[in-house]
Amino acid sequence: MIAIDGFSSCGKSTFAREIAARMGYIFIDTGAMYRAVTLYALRHGAVDGGWIDEARLVAMLPDIRISFRFNAARGASDVYLDGENVEREIRSIGVSNLVSRVSQIGAVREQLVRLQQQMGSAKGVVMDGRDIGTVVFPDAELKIFMTADPAVRAMRRYEELKEKGQEVPLAEIEENIRSRDLADQTRAIGPLRQADDALVLDNSHMTVDEQMAWVQDKLKALGC
Ligand code: DC
Repeated sequence: MIAIDGFSSCGKSTFAREIAARMGYIFIDTGAMYRAVTLYALRHGAVDGGWIDEARLVAMLPDIRISFRFNAARGASDVYLDGENVEREIRSIGVSNLVSRVSQIGAVREQLVRLQQQMGSAKGVVMDGRDIGTVVFPDAELKIFMTADPAVRAMRRYEELKEKGQEVPLAEIEENIRSRDLADQTRAIGPLRQADDALVLDNSHMTVDEQMAWVQDKLKALGC
């Protein structure tokens, strides 16, 4: 198990996907799971004008079916909600603006952490999120804590959304990143923090190849 945690829009998923592709590991994007629950809440009337009806969402949790299926065209797994591919919709700014608040709900975290522990029980898994090395897999063989300059992160997110045809003002993305960092670090349950035994990777000025060389070095040192 390689556990990758860190701030929003640091390139965690890109990095994890690349590790999985090169090492033959399975990649699990846990942020996509919190996003799928948020989309479900939006679709099923548990959100009203930015206000989350927590009791209603918690009552719905047993009905939410989240799964991943490999998409050969993308070389990565897409997330499915009740059998529907929602990979595109979960990345919308509407979901992004709500997901940190949904992920603060204890019952949501309990359910997703349990599911992640089941999914990650096999060998050769790379999982990215906020609490993987601290809560989900505290015994992971390698823990990485990723960080990058907020301005670099906002620009990366901007380009990523633009590529998908979503034109979102940079200022709105910067604000979303700032508020998510704060919410993720200050929530009561499973807050974002660096595990004591995690290695820090600041990729502000690193290419994906440079990041791969870095991680391969670490894996070699571990005998993996
Ligand atoms: O990685 P991401 O930006 O797609 O994650 C979306 C949100 O989900 C993020 O703001 C915090 C939350 N999250 C979490 O609380 N715990 C995780 N393990 C993964 C994501």
